[in-house]
Amino acid sequence: MLSGYRSSVAVVAKLSTPLSFTCHSSSTLPPRISSLLGVRAMSATAARPDPFRPAKRVAGQRQDVWSIVNEAAAASPVQPIVNMGQGFFGYNPPKFALDAAKAALDRVDCNQYSPTKGRPRLKKAIADAYSPFFGRQLNPDTEVTITTGANEGMLSAFMGFIEPGDEVIIFEPFFDQYISNIEMPGGTIRYVPLQPPKDGATRTSPASEWSIDFDKLEGTVNPKTRMIVLNSPHNPVGKVFSHDELERIGDLAVKHNLIILSDEVYDRLYYVPFTRIATMKPEFWERTITVGSAGKAFYATGWRVGYLIGPDHLIKYVAGAHTRICYSSVSPLQEAAAVAFEEADKEGFWDESRDEMKKKMELFCEVFDELNIPYSDPEGGYFVLANMASVNLPEDYPFPSHVASRPRDFKLCWFLIHEVGVAAIPPTEFYTDENANIAEDYLRFAVCKEDEILETAKERLRGLKKYIVR
Ligand SMILES: Cc1ncc(COP(=O)(O)O)c(C=O)c1O
Repeated sequence: MLSGYRSSVAVVAKLSTPLSFTCHSSSTLPPRISSLLGVRAMSATAARPDPFRPAKRVAGQRQDVWSIVNEAAAASPVQPIVNMGQGFFGYNPPKFALDAAKAALDRVDCNQYSPTKGRPRLKKAIADAYSPFFGRQLNPDTEVTITTGANEGMLSAFMGFIEPGDEVIIFEPFFDQYISNIEMPGGTIRYVPLQPPKDGATRTSPASEWSIDFDKLEGTVNPKTRMIVLNSPHNPVGKVFSHDELERIGDLAVKHNLIILSDEVYDRLYYVPFTRIATMKPEFWERTITVGSAGKAFYATGWRVGYLIGPDHLIKYVAGAHTRICYSSVSPLQEAAAVAFEEADKEGFWDESRDEMKKKMELFCEVFDELNIPYSDPEGGYFVLANMASVNLPEDYPFPSHVASRPRDFKLCWFLIHEVGVAAIPPTEFYTDENANIAEDYLRFAVCKEDEILETAKERLRGLKKYIVR
């Protein structure tokens, strides 16, 4: 930031040196000088046919899922719709976190730039909170770095280690932002689909039954592979990767010298034993970047405070990339997150938030039990995948063409919004076209909403009864 400021001062200083010209015509002046003098020269660039053409990395080809859901919601005869789609919380952060945010705004230092790697208080609070899990004292200066949400943290991790042509393995379904985050530095993505239980359309089963095809995984590794991305607890499947699965993935990473990016943003919401891959073996620690999100932890996704934990030799380059992307992250909310981490244990917050979310999950899933709609029973996180294979979509239903051309879950999503006024997310958005058929009967619901919203959603979903055919 500062060096950018200095260099622009230097340019101005150079330009203020008087320039003397004899009789150059505008076309003979060097282009930079003629543009600085405001002279309009005809040039090849003036004839550029598409001056506002976006770069490929931002020019999406299809309408994204969020705008389709919004469009369906606006057009639905049932108003207002109940939004069970996006994973934002329907309630506020705990009081101790909110109070800390308000207090931070009154402090001069909290309204100014933070150090690029994060505020010392937050790094220390995170190091203290996570050292017991990692079985070692984390160094807050070298083994923790703060980012603008977990998402920018992951972008920084890929920017820090991926060169054009390098390959990154991710599992399907994936968190959608991985794709652009890997492609921005020129990475190529290799996909390995999690396999749902074969009888997922007829039986509710634990999310653990979404399994990894290890032969496929190993077959995907090649000399260009640099990283493998894990997400546990998993969005949207709700799977918590088992100790055995993590060990096999970690051993594979060691064998082929890969970096592991372990996205653990739902790490406080697990309903079965949860293992962090970085903590399993020293060889895993030395190659793993663990990703966390204060937004997910404290019901404050809009705060955009994320963090990465790992060995110095990984964290320093990720932090370097972060400095170039956004310099530093929002100061007052880092301070608030620091206080929240300091207070959470004392307040009994972690147990409380996990118990509350589990209860919300059970409360909401009752409606699927009633309707005999099978679901993938989550072991962590706040998403549930319900299998809607038995919901009969009328053949002549007036789906708009951009929905009709997408897999069945997009139609289910549109249908639910219009017929019962409940929005959910079609999970094939989190698949490549090639593998989308795996999940096209499912819809993803987020239960991080007030109980009364969950009750309204349940009541409305009961309206599906007349469309269920077995
Ligand atoms: C699996 C996963 N990783 C990362 C993120 C992003 O977290 P943040 O909001 O801290 O950027 C999300 C948000 O939905 C997510 O589901």
